[in-house]
Amino acid sequence: MRVACKLAAEVLEMVAPYVAAGVSTEELDRICHDYIVDVQQAIPAPLNYRGFPKSICTSINQQICHGIPSDKKLKNGDIVNIDITVIKDDYHGDTSQMFCIGDVSPHAARLVEITRECLFLGIEQVKPGAHFGDIGHAIQKHAESSRYSVVREFCGHGIGKKFHEEPHVMHFGKMGEGEEIRPGMIFTIEPMINLGKRHMKILADGWTAVTKDRSLSAQWEHTILVTETGYEILTLREDER
Ligand code: MF3
Ligand code: CO
Ligand code: CO
Repeated sequence: MRVACKLAAEVLEMVAPYVAAGVSTEELDRICHDYIVDVQQAIPAPLNYRGFPKSICTSINQQICHGIPSDKKLKNGDIVNIDITVIKDDYHGDTSQMFCIGDVSPHAARLVEITRECLFLGIEQVKPGAHFGDIGHAIQKHAESSRYSVVREFCGHGIGKKFHEEPHVMHFGKMGEGEEIRPGMIFTIEPMINLGKRHMKILADGWTAVTKDRSLSAQWEHTILVTETGYEILTLREDER
C-alpha cells in the first residue's frame, strides 16, 4: 500500500506543471495514463472501472467529482480537482487535489483552502480508539461554520486490493458515532464541499456529479494508514511535507 500510494502522489506531482489555462482535461488524462503505464508500470484504476471511460477524474468548478476528461480546455479562473488512483502489485493508492487556474476569484480560492483544511482536520482525528464519526464531525463543523455544505452522497472508503471497500468514511457526523478506528486500517478521506447547498445531481454521462444549484465545489483526498499512535498519510506529496 505504501508503494501504490506513493506512486499515486507522484502522478499528481508529475502532472502539476501541465495543469494550466489552455490544456484540455483529455490531454491531462493522456499524460497521466502514459506516466502510470510506461514509467510506473502500474495500472490506472479508473479506466474501465464500472464502465468509467478514462484513466483519471477531472472535476471543474461546479462539478463535485467523477468528471470525465474531455476536449474541454481549462481556462483562467477555473478550479479543478484531479483524482488519481493507481494499482501496483494488486494494491490501490487513491489521492486527489485541487488546482487553481490563473487568477481565481477570492471566493473560489477560499473554498479550495477551507476544503483542504477540512481534509486535514479529518485526518487529525485518526487514531486507535477514535470513531469514524469523529472524522465526519470535524469536517462538517469546519465546512458549515465557514457557511459551506458537505456533499452526503459520496464518502471516503476502505481501500486495498479493492478500489472501494468497507468502511464508508462519512464526511459528516457526530463525535463517538460509528465504528471504532483500529491500527492497520487503511481508508481514504475525501471531503467534497460546496459553496452553496449540498444537493447534487448526476449528468447524462452517468458519471459527473454536479451541484444542483451550480455553486462551486472542491475536494481533496488522501489515503490514510492507522498506526499504533495515530496515522500515516500514505499519499503525502513533497509540497505537503
Ligand atoms: N477516485 C475516486 C475515489 O476517490 C473514484 C473514482 S471512480 C471512477 O473514490 F470510476 F470514476 F474512476
Ligand atoms: Co477515493
Ligand atoms: Co479518488
